[in-house]
Amino acid sequence: MSFKERVRKIKEDAEKFALLTREDLENYRIKFLVKKSEMMELFNIIKDIAPEDRKETGRLLNEVKKAIEEKYKSQHEVFNHKPQDKKNSQDLTLPPFYANKGSRHPIAIIKNKIIEIFSKIGFIIEEGPEIEDDWHNFSALNFPDNHPARDMQDTFFINMEDQLALRTHTSSVQIRTMQSQQPPIRILAPGRVYRNEAVSARANCFFHQIEGLYIDEKVSFADLKQTLFYFVKEMYGDDIEVRFRPSYFPFTEPSAEMDINCTICRGKGCNVCKHTGWLEILGCGMVHPNVLKNCGIDPERYSGFAFGMGIERQSMLLNGVNDLRTFFENDTRFLRQF
Ligand code: DAH
Repeated sequence: MSFKERVRKIKEDAEKFALLTREDLENYRIKFLVKKSEMMELFNIIKDIAPEDRKETGRLLNEVKKAIEEKYKSQHEVFNHKPQDKKNSQDLTLPPFYANKGSRHPIAIIKNKIIEIFSKIGFIIEEGPEIEDDWHNFSALNFPDNHPARDMQDTFFINMEDQLALRTHTSSVQIRTMQSQQPPIRILAPGRVYRNEAVSARANCFFHQIEGLYIDEKVSFADLKQTLFYFVKEMYGDDIEVRFRPSYFPFTEPSAEMDINCTICRGKGCNVCKHTGWLEILGCGMVHPNVLKNCGIDPERYSGFAFGMGIERQSMLLNGVNDLRTFFENDTRFLRQF
């Protein structure tokens, strides 16, 4: 290879040399710029070239050296750049910072959906304390002392002297609302409730409920049914079937439980509905006259209905979740799905 050819080859190699990392840059320096590099060697032997060619060859060699040094210098600056100006210190060439996006908890999503459905027909939100006294949680709701109905909901007592407990249901908010307002009353009370239960896939020591209450003149069981039909269709879709079963709650008379046909097997029968084709979704009934009286509302003039449902249960049915505990573990792999 002639001298000129060697210079051109060096030029080509240097141009192709990719400088993606600091290591590349160092290898580039060693290959082209140190004393023992081929290019530097050429500078030593240029004196051997015939004098008539020396000038032009020398110019070419100098040009190539300059280009190689330029490339090194500019990349060196990129890697060692320290922002001088704090105000403009953002480096827009850096890879983006990916932040994890949060989302609403599935319980909050369902709660908001239920609130939205009932707010369209005039229900407003009321809230009450999670630490309740015996009167608001039981007595005013027509649970007699020592009545077995109190055993239905194992209670966490906080203070036996004052009979303070963690509320076992959101029905206590009915009482607080009727004590402070006269009809018409149309409220929805979402909140957390507590029961002394062994934790399992189907039960937890705390969960969430939504309570509904409607009190006015001439409110009938037909109003209750139509309101709940409307709710179920909005929530689960037009083709859902509904049935009412007679039930018992101390604070309603008559009382009922409402079932929908199983959202998993659509009524054919499966493990979730225990092969009945039906799933219970809420309790309801006409507010007992004693409850109205306890709150200072005249049962001769006013009547009303109430209903209560578990929020976790609605989410389990809508989303096919089969273990209640997953709602409270805060495992982001679970939460991210909603
Ligand atoms: N409080 C009941 C429970 O926790 C649910 C309930 C049933 C609420 C009937 C109501 C009702 O308002 O009318 O199991």
